[in-house]
Amino acid sequence: MAKQGFNTRCVHGTSRNDARWRKSRPVSTPIFQTSTFAFENADHGAAIFAGENDGFLYTRLGNPTQEALEDRMAAIEGGEAGLALASGMAAATTAVLTLCESGDHIVSGDTLYGGTHQLFTHTLPRLGIRVTEVKADDPANFAAAITEKTKLVYLESPANPTLVLTDIAAVAAVAHEHGIPVLVDNTFCTPYLQRPLELGADIVLHSATKYIGGHGDAIAGVLVGSEEFITRARFETLRDVGGCISPFNAWLLIRGLKTLPVRMDRHCANAALVAEWLETQPMVTKVIYPGLKSHPQHELAKRQQSGFGGLVSFHVAGNDVLTPREAGKVVMDNVELCTLAVSLGDVDSLIEHPGTMTHSTYSEEELLNVGIDPAMIRLSVGLEDPQDIIADLAQALGRIQTT
Ligand SMILES: Cc1ncc(COP(=O)(O)O)c(C=O)c1O
Repeated sequence: MAKQGFNTRCVHGTSRNDARWRKSRPVSTPIFQTSTFAFENADHGAAIFAGENDGFLYTRLGNPTQEALEDRMAAIEGGEAGLALASGMAAATTAVLTLCESGDHIVSGDTLYGGTHQLFTHTLPRLGIRVTEVKADDPANFAAAITEKTKLVYLESPANPTLVLTDIAAVAAVAHEHGIPVLVDNTFCTPYLQRPLELGADIVLHSATKYIGGHGDAIAGVLVGSEEFITRARFETLRDVGGCISPFNAWLLIRGLKTLPVRMDRHCANAALVAEWLETQPMVTKVIYPGLKSHPQHELAKRQQSGFGGLVSFHVAGNDVLTPREAGKVVMDNVELCTLAVSLGDVDSLIEHPGTMTHSTYSEEELLNVGIDPAMIRLSVGLEDPQDIIADLAQALGRIQTT
């Protein structure tokens, strides 16, 4: 069969699953809610353990529901294989521990999800793995930071929450000159808007908790890469570290994937309307959205992404009584439709304060250095009617004057 379109692959996965389930033909992927799998006899069990037979043996290492998700993610990212994990952080840890050991070095962008920054600045150094974080908007910074110990270049584009982009193709070219693999955290874009492997990256990571699941009901992570990398990640790292996904959560993500393209189209359209409206508001001093002409990397966003995503960051002005940071608190405390909560990519609009919440793992000095102003507010624009989201922000911004 000719290669099917992106939407078809989201809904149907790969033909491999159809063959596997030909006898029963369920339309929805079954949940194999089992921890272990019966062997036909002792030799069969031994052969599976020895890798001579590809049957399933134990759900930490693989399960048909997990596999259906992994195949679908690989199919839509354009990679050879996928590995589903318990969380985005489990995916990050599994990738890093597969590629690096004590004495090795990683180069990454300096704005990362706060948990990844914490992993890089606290936990990995305890294991003897050093990370250099550089300004991600210039590929030359990555070239300058690479040493002979560097085993991984780790990118997050657009970065959380500054929405700074990295030129993935340019950084991949630099890293590959040194034989170093490039991993891209594609959580903000999803493969619907950005395909890092086609831009030259080697591994894609998702916090599938976000747009892949899409409904705010499951924590999960995914890696996509070469068969060789995924096999090592599964049978060396995941086997030992153990951050496997539950079959039920894998099923929720499969269900989420079926509507990924339509959800992403609406997230992008709503976010564009909200960002454009925020830019016209006198109480708003800065709006960051890759789809705005005012975004310093708007041209790169147009080149590297097929849409601008659902995240908008903005700063509000203070007044005689309130600092900008205090005015931002008034907005967050007074939204009614948007929910004050971390996470992103849900059908619900979520608003939060990076400096004291998702990115509280950065010191105050680090926050300023990477461009996370104390006044910055991050909004994950959901799928409500855009005029309702805007009306909610308008009334919350209005409260600044009356507080
Ligand atoms: C860009 C990005 N990567 C990774 C993660 C970590 O994912 P999880 O919370 O699923 O462990 C997050 C979480 O917010 C994120 O925003």
